Amino acid sequence: METEESLAVKIKKTEGEQTRVFLRNHNLLKSNLKIKRSTDYLFIPVKESIKDFDNFNLVTDSFEKTKQSISTYQHLLNLPIELQSQLPTSFDIIGDIILLKLPKELQSYSKEIGRALLKTHAHVNTVCTIDPVSGELRRRNVHVIAGKQKTVTNHKEYGLWFKVDVEKTYFSSRLATERKRISNLIEKNAFVYDMFCGVAPFSIMIAKYAQPKQVIAVDKNHDAIKLAQHNIQKNNVSNNTIAIHEDALNTKQILSYHKIIPTHIIMNLPFSAFEFFPLALQVIKNNGMIHYYDMIDENSIEKRIDQLKSTAQKYDSTLLETTMHKIKTYAPHEFYIGIDITVSKK
Ligand SMILES: C[S@@+](CC[C@H](N)C(=O)[O-])C[C@H]1O[C@@H](n2cnc3c(N)ncnc32)[C@H](O)[C@@H]1O
Repeated sequence: METEESLAVKIKKTEGEQTRVFLRNHNLLKSNLKIKRSTDYLFIPVKESIKDFDNFNLVTDSFEKTKQSISTYQHLLNLPIELQSQLPTSFDIIGDIILLKLPKELQSYSKEIGRALLKTHAHVNTVCTIDPVSGELRRRNVHVIAGKQKTVTNHKEYGLWFKVDVEKTYFSSRLATERKRISNLIEKNAFVYDMFCGVAPFSIMIAKYAQPKQVIAVDKNHDAIKLAQHNIQKNNVSNNTIAIHEDALNTKQILSYHKIIPTHIIMNLPFSAFEFFPLALQVIKNNGMIHYYDMIDENSIEKRIDQLKSTAQKYDSTLLETTMHKIKTYAPHEFYIGIDITVSKK
């Protein structure tokens, strides 16, 4: 039996299939190695690029090789040798659309690259190259390089369906485990306010799995809210969830109109959530939790937590607990972080 040493994700068997699909969708699986099993756990061999994701329990072990090694999209391409190493090893798959960042040296080969990806990913119908998300409404330029000319797709996550327009709205499939983690923290009698909801993946995950009293989801992007409303219907959570096209600056008016004092506030607007933090402090229930997200240099994390604490003091509040975790890297030493903050009010 031929074996190979590899990094692997250690995951409870009950979460195995969900995780395998996630790893496959992010091109992280080592398909030439067999998955190992213990009584309670699966050990799924993965590529080194898993280190971009910080949510996984990683181990190193030796794995049996599969008889047939499945060809990768890189194998189907005939590129000059100096360009081969620049081919992306990981990319996002949202629904049936691959989103790819191509270095400029590879732009003139984009059509061949797109066609190779279509051949090696049977469930994919469109391959796009993407520019970084930009602007307040977090849109991005998308260029279809192979397959069907479309930017709208349906993405499945933890048994939920999200309709997404990858051009007009923000959605990250990499936050799936984070959304599930938050839904596990929320109690049945909770009131949840999702300040920057996008197509409402946090709101719907929480509504479905935590079954709180009510979820109010807000976004300034009209396209996002239309999709959020569709997704709420599609996932049968309209009994406790609404999506409103509004500016989060009007939070006090929105909450007073709906007569809710949130026990949990989701603030997923990296780079700018800090500006809205005073507003969240003013409306959160005593001992409620703010789930705050930011993109930040590793060396600035402590400073940001201190800034959050001193902002709280100005609003007669104390941050009882600030639990920070790194969700993913987006540049060397730069992290997408989440902080669960418990607020005590005087
Ligand atoms: C990073 S996306 C997060 C979307 C969603 N929470 C998710 O996880 O997919 C941030 C969202 O905030 C919205 N946004 C930006 N400024 C806003 C504001 N002042 N009020 C409400 N929404 C805003 C954008 O339109 C965008 O959909």
